[in-house]
Amino acid sequence: MEFENSLSFARQLDQNDDLKRFRFRFYIPTEEGKELIYFLGNSLGLQPRTAQSYIKHVLDQWTRYGVEGFVKGKLPWLNYHDHLIQPLAKIVGALPQEVVVMNQLTVNLHLMMVSFYQPSGKRNKIICESKAFPSDQYMFESHLRYCGLKPEDVIVEISPREGEELIRTEDILAAIQENKDELALVLWGGINYYTGQLFDIGVITKAAQAAGAKAGFDLAHAAGNVILQLHNWNVDFACWCSYKYLNSGPGTVGGVYIHEKYHNDSSVQRLAGWWGYDKATRFQMKKGFKPVLTAEGWQVSSPSPVLYAAHKAALEIFEEAGMDALIKKSRLLSDYLFFILKKVNESYGGNCLKIITPGNAKERGCQVSMLMLKNGKKIYEQLSSHGIFADWREPDVIRVAPVPLYNTFEEVWSFGDTLQKILSSHS
Ligand SMILES: Cc1ncc(COP(=O)(O)O)c(C=O)c1O
Repeated sequence: MEFENSLSFARQLDQNDDLKRFRFRFYIPTEEGKELIYFLGNSLGLQPRTAQSYIKHVLDQWTRYGVEGFVKGKLPWLNYHDHLIQPLAKIVGALPQEVVVMNQLTVNLHLMMVSFYQPSGKRNKIICESKAFPSDQYMFESHLRYCGLKPEDVIVEISPREGEELIRTEDILAAIQENKDELALVLWGGINYYTGQLFDIGVITKAAQAAGAKAGFDLAHAAGNVILQLHNWNVDFACWCSYKYLNSGPGTVGGVYIHEKYHNDSSVQRLAGWWGYDKATRFQMKKGFKPVLTAEGWQVSSPSPVLYAAHKAALEIFEEAGMDALIKKSRLLSDYLFFILKKVNESYGGNCLKIITPGNAKERGCQVSMLMLKNGKKIYEQLSSHGIFADWREPDVIRVAPVPLYNTFEEVWSFGDTLQKILSSHS
């Protein structure tokens, strides 16, 4: 499509947007009655308008039935999880029995390490991204020390080449090949939080498994943001949070995918708790752990239906919109953002910013990361004071995520227009 850098063109794109009605399903942050431009769905997704009533329903059930809320009322808490896994399985491309909603992301990564990182002799290496999210790095360090290993002996970090921002797939595959006799696990991000680069999960999985290792993914920035086919790609396990693109509330419950081939495999270790126990006999309170033979068998503690309720509210919107339609709009939105940013940059001789997110829409989600060549922090602060929510990542990146469920093309245009005005005040 031939884009134009004009308000009327952006409004035309909004008019033709089949998903425009979904914006009204969310609360958009406002200041003095005016809607602000929220490009931070990659940090905390916005609140579905149904979330409060769904949560209230859980609280009402508690008021009315006390503990019997687990088995009584319109949505008994004992089965609440069943309402989440079908829509989630569609979002991540899994079989419903391969998905479980539990805990939070870093906790789940530790639990998956217990099951899928089983160092044996010299086969103990882990391949990961050099700039993995800090929580993942702390997870690796602490987990390996707990296993009696030194992180520096075990972790093989892959970086972008000198002078490049993105990690090449060929370099990941070469590292897997080089370490093939010692490799136990490849644990990689689906999308890098800093650059917005989407990795080829299927190809990485195949290479890791061909080397005799397991392949797991942190999908914090990928779930609900890009098309995933975890089952078809034969991924061993994956974890994600639900507060970013899945719009289910701050610090809310996370999600895990575990390939069905492991559900009844007693050689796979796990840290168990009563909520992972066979549902039919859980309350007989017998000795000896007998797991549910699905991903639910990895649950440890009893879950919070309050958190499930907000998650349900958000997942229903995904069901209605459909991932294919969302991705189509997402690519158009971020392509338009690329176009607008290039126009702004060109008007300053290409000297104000460099986009480090891949240009090809198939290699990114909706996030676009701009490396600011000068006055970055100041420009970011000025954007904030103009009512634009983006974020700053040290040392010099502004991240902008136009989300297809609630952002508009007009907002993308306004962002460029505001940035242009800010830059002109600097020159
Ligand atoms: C890529 C990635 N991994 C891990 C985390 C940590 O998630 P949690 O605080 O839910 O454990 C985040 C949080 O933003 C993240 O972006």
